Amino acid sequence: MTTVLVTGGAGYIGSHACKALAAAGYVPVTFDNLSTGHRSAVRWGPFEYGDLKDLPRLQEVIRTWRPAAVMHFAASAYVGESVADPASYWRNNVQGSATLLEAMRLSGIEALVFSSTCATYGNHDSLINEATPQRPCNPYGRTKLAVEWMIGDHVAAYALRAVCLRYFNAAGADPDGELGEDHDPEPHLIPRILMAAAGRLPAVEIFGTALPTPDGTPIRDYIHVSDLADAHVAALKYLSGAAGFHAFNLGTGRGTSVLAMIEAAEQVTRRTIPRLLKPQRPGDPVQLVADAGAARTVLGLRTSRSSPETLIATAWPWFSPDGDRASRM
Ligand SMILES: NC(=O)c1ccc[n+]([C@@H]2O[C@H](COP(=O)([O-])OP(=O)(O)OC[C@H]3O[C@@H](n4cnc5c(N)ncnc54)[C@H](O)[C@@H]3O)[C@@H](O)[C@H]2O)c1
Repeated sequence: MTTVLVTGGAGYIGSHACKALAAAGYVPVTFDNLSTGHRSAVRWGPFEYGDLKDLPRLQEVIRTWRPAAVMHFAASAYVGESVADPASYWRNNVQGSATLLEAMRLSGIEALVFSSTCATYGNHDSLINEATPQRPCNPYGRTKLAVEWMIGDHVAAYALRAVCLRYFNAAGADPDGELGEDHDPEPHLIPRILMAAAGRLPAVEIFGTALPTPDGTPIRDYIHVSDLADAHVAALKYLSGAAGFHAFNLGTGRGTSVLAMIEAAEQVTRRTIPRLLKPQRPGDPVQLVADAGAARTVLGLRTSRSSPETLIATAWPWFSPDGDRASRM
């Protein structure tokens, strides 16, 4: 069986990817410092504690498991936090990725799937495809773009093949109920909507209510985390036959406004969800929607679980007062 080193495998998307990898016959070895992830989410392969910036520790783990490829999820990933503390973002995301690339190069690992983001594009009114200029408007997006460039330079100079997957908004939870989204603090919209629905937050904030969108609230392209996870397995298989550097958007091509998502959640949960109207946040784009045609054609991307109703329905058990989340993690 092929072993894959999964940095950030204890986190939200990484843990779902480990489940998909194991289902596809790979052995996912999680490498994680548990800064935002959970040991209990590592259930489909071995766990190795460590920090990305620790080259000797990475080399030790690589020597032990001899992975054929790396999936690199580990990062700091909150826009607001990156605006307040950019230094920690440049250190963790860029220095961490540079160390990982060095460990891969020193041990001859030649295949990399990197978690990039729509935040590398910045503000664009129309659908975003992979040729859309990347003009990130916050430090988080700039650090992720810097890592894409670094990977591109390594591909050009060394024996590395890489796929950068630019996710739009990951959402939802494992349909089997074995994994979910568990951040503290939790900045993402759908968890916050459901925390407000469950009475764990007084209200869900809407940041920006008079924007140039049909209902005045920001528009995002939400993709189910299990659809994302499957796309990672497809990217790994694609890399076995593809040299060079490749980038794919992972989204649905459908934009949903914050207001529309709250209304979908009210339908699914059958609860009234209190709202708090707030100004747009610094660094927050008005709209981000993917043209994911390339991923559909080349990777066979499917987004069958990504409707707002399915996103909410799979995530709700994690937040509902009746849900038994603690016993599952
Ligand atoms: N959540 C989204 O909507 C979204 C969208 C686009 C891109 N992404 C990217 O996807 C990746 C995963 O995001 P997520 O939402 O699962 O985040 P997450 O915080 O749940 O997971 C990140 C994981 O990486 C680990 N980690 C962080 N820094 C580390 C370090 N220096 N060494 C070792 N482990 C470290 C954390 O402990 C955590 O387990 C990130 O790279 C993020 O930029 C996420």
